[in-house]
Amino acid sequence: MTDKKISKQEMGDFIQTVKDFYISQGRHDLPWRHTRDPYAILVSEIMLQQTQVPRVIEKWNNWLNIFPTIQSLSEASTFDVLQHWQGLGYNRRALALQKLAQTVQKDFEGIIPQDTESLISLPGIGPYTAGAVCAFAFNIPSVFIETNIRTLFIHHFFQDQTSVHDSQLLPLIEQTLDYSNPREWYYALMDYGSFIKKTFNSSRKSKHYNKQSPFKGSNREQRAFILTYILSVTEASKEQIKEALRQHLSERLETESNVATFFEKFDENIAKMSKEGFLTFESGRFKVLQKE
Ligand code: ADE
Repeated sequence: MTDKKISKQEMGDFIQTVKDFYISQGRHDLPWRHTRDPYAILVSEIMLQQTQVPRVIEKWNNWLNIFPTIQSLSEASTFDVLQHWQGLGYNRRALALQKLAQTVQKDFEGIIPQDTESLISLPGIGPYTAGAVCAFAFNIPSVFIETNIRTLFIHHFFQDQTSVHDSQLLPLIEQTLDYSNPREWYYALMDYGSFIKKTFNSSRKSKHYNKQSPFKGSNREQRAFILTYILSVTEASKEQIKEALRQHLSERLETESNVATFFEKFDENIAKMSKEGFLTFESGRFKVLQKE
């Protein structure tokens, strides 16, 4: 596939449109845009990976009050980490974030690295988050894409195409990059992209379009319930967890057969959650690790 050719004039017009939008309608009050603390910015990016902005606003401040530094997070108990992640969903991110803090303490003298390669080597960080941390925490230019930016470039440059691949978009993003102030430029791209997404919903034309699957009746729901339940009772036997889940389900899933299908995964979920570090099993009881 050949790269799409965009004239200097067209690219200049596009950049101006994005800048104009940002000046008049940018989300200048997002709280993580008012700090330069790399740790606080990294936390916001991990939270924003799969959670909507309004929910992250609620949780981000609280998280930083409880775990104000990389060191405090690295020394926290799994119980506290998962407790304070509640409400954000996709709990694996919380475990990864704590592992990241421990790795930064151990291998990087407690300092978050400033290059994408080292960032990507850390738990929970992929190419997007690495690029975003470089731009937002360190104002270092690197080319990256996320859902809002993807939507914007498809909407503007690939109106009549479906199945647009990120490899077609990345060279265009690179052409627009503001090397003197990548931080502001990426804020602007994300904000205009978010606006376009709400208005036109054109990310569906992407090859990478990835809608979150429904929560109700999903395995994700079962795992989330098990974790929330154990955090609330501190420890429980397998039968107690199963009973609590049964009660929860009778209110949620309409038919007995839905409930039965849901339970087929129970043993596997408990085993996997133990293996992944969410739960420990001791004297017949499951718990989440707390500090001695
Ligand atoms: N500002 C900085 N990072 C952001 C993100 N991932 N989503 C929305 N706004 C942001």
